[in-house]
Amino acid sequence: MLISKFRINQFTLIFLVALFNSKAQNPLVIPPLLSGTSFSLTIQSGTKNFYAGYNTPTYGVNGTWLGPTLELNKKDSVTMNVTNSLNTSTTIHWHGLHVAPENDGGPHQIIAAGATWSPKFKVRNEAGTFWYHPHGQGKTDLHVSKGIAGLIIIRDSMEATINLPRTYGVDDIPLIVQSKAFDVLRQIAIATEDDTAMFVNGTLNPQVSLPAQVIRFRILNGSSMRSYSFGFTGSLPFKMIAGDGGLLDTALTLTQLRLAPGERAEVLLNLTGMNGQTIYFRNFGSLLPNGIYGAAAVGVGSAVIPGYNLNPRNGADYDILKINIIAQNGSPVTTMPATLTVNNPWLTSSAIANRRIEFNTLVAGDSTQMAEGPFLMGGKAFDMDTINIRTQLNNVEIWKLVNRTLIAHPFHMHNIQFYVLDINGVPPAAIEKGKKDVILLMPGDSLRFITKFEDFANDTLGYMYHCHLLHHEDDGMMGQFVVMNAPVGIKQFDETQTVVIYPNPAQGKLNIVAKEQGKLKVSVYNTLGELIFKSASNEKKLTINTEEWPKGLYTLMLIQNLKTSFKKIIIE
Ligand code: C2O
Ligand code: CU
Ligand code: CU
Repeated sequence: MLISKFRINQFTLIFLVALFNSKAQNPLVIPPLLSGTSFSLTIQSGTKNFYAGYNTPTYGVNGTWLGPTLELNKKDSVTMNVTNSLNTSTTIHWHGLHVAPENDGGPHQIIAAGATWSPKFKVRNEAGTFWYHPHGQGKTDLHVSKGIAGLIIIRDSMEATINLPRTYGVDDIPLIVQSKAFDVLRQIAIATEDDTAMFVNGTLNPQVSLPAQVIRFRILNGSSMRSYSFGFTGSLPFKMIAGDGGLLDTALTLTQLRLAPGERAEVLLNLTGMNGQTIYFRNFGSLLPNGIYGAAAVGVGSAVIPGYNLNPRNGADYDILKINIIAQNGSPVTTMPATLTVNNPWLTSSAIANRRIEFNTLVAGDSTQMAEGPFLMGGKAFDMDTINIRTQLNNVEIWKLVNRTLIAHPFHMHNIQFYVLDINGVPPAAIEKGKKDVILLMPGDSLRFITKFEDFANDTLGYMYHCHLLHHEDDGMMGQFVVMNAPVGIKQFDETQTVVIYPNPAQGKLNIVAKEQGKLKVSVYNTLGELIFKSASNEKKLTINTEEWPKGLYTLMLIQNLKTSFKKIIIE
């Protein structure tokens, strides 16, 4: 679905610059914290008065603007009762959580107007910062922009052993950063390039008082399009302790941290000895490389985003949150830990490396689409009824992503966390070495990550992967994958070195070439373990016609010279 665009012109620009320069300070709202194992979330509508004399229609959860923070404990079984009081359908997705597809809250788990959806799931993620937001097909940007979003904090016994600030709202501070666009009537607008209003936890021009001790910030970039290079006044150093999926191995000392839409980070800032001072949490937007939405420029020549250059936030440095430093409280944390946890990425030697997803335009090479879209993922626009990728339970897989457009896209995948292996052949920077569920690809980037599909299999119900620029997602830059049940009676995957099989995935034809002489016997089983093909050859090469086979995963059994090996193949 394409949404018609509201463009910046000289008239609206005067109004936009006025918003940009507005300096009145409002106390930072700390969203209420809900804890336990049963949560009641009601999605509602209302109005806010962000601008004097104007009513702005909004949405919220248990209120009319944003939603509460949910505190979950790893291993707890939780029930979410989500009631939709809007007069339109929506969904609530648990971004970053490892849950079964029916509990994921993607576009398939529609909550009709007036209905209640009650997923129950066990908390399996490690301690970290996650979030929830709507995911209705073609509606994500509108529903998020109008105010539906909230943080999820997961605690676990490992994280509890580290001396970290964890008093919510006192020294453990949520920062949900969102840029939003308003039209001339101060209605929230989407799919525009004039997102000049900057909110933290739903507060415009916010300020907060924080004690002179170590403060933990849980930063979520909840913006629809904009990336930031976050930092503090005077490039004060801080420590990054966690990324999307939880703690890093060691705390990283940084002065700026880039976060794309959907990404989270936990950082520690030591305010000890600074009682009475005022600092700012800022965006160093001038440091963003061109090509990222939020940088000085996106695209080149005729391949640019119309109106982009008129937004004064693009490529600019500015304050986001004023911090007034006050006296220490009773139980301050005053030191910062160096080592945190041990992440164990899966071994590439155990992985199947056969996925490749290209980001491209609808009309190949169309220069006007190269920076603005609409974009495709894997050569196709999203279709609710199409499963784009079939994987199998307990597969370890390497996925390759290639960005063939002129704008950076944050790739996000449901269900799993992944580890980035390399970007353009080079290992990722330290900040991107932990568990991730969103990763930004610059124009031209080719990136590989490794992941494992554990615990949940469902041969038909898909999980999403998509660009987390919400306008791109709504336009169809999304696909779905299913995790299929493991074949019955077929043991552990064993990568054979004596036979080469190609292409894999196969379309119509599969070639099997043995490296040694000797009779080659081949049997193919489907995911139910049923024998669907059998052949033998005295030649070193065997070509199988797979045209009639249903798309999906198969296991090939090869016997040659009394050696048996198995190989997973995909038929597309
Ligand atoms: Cu944060 Cu599919 O979403
Ligand atoms: Cu998600
Ligand atoms: Cu995108």
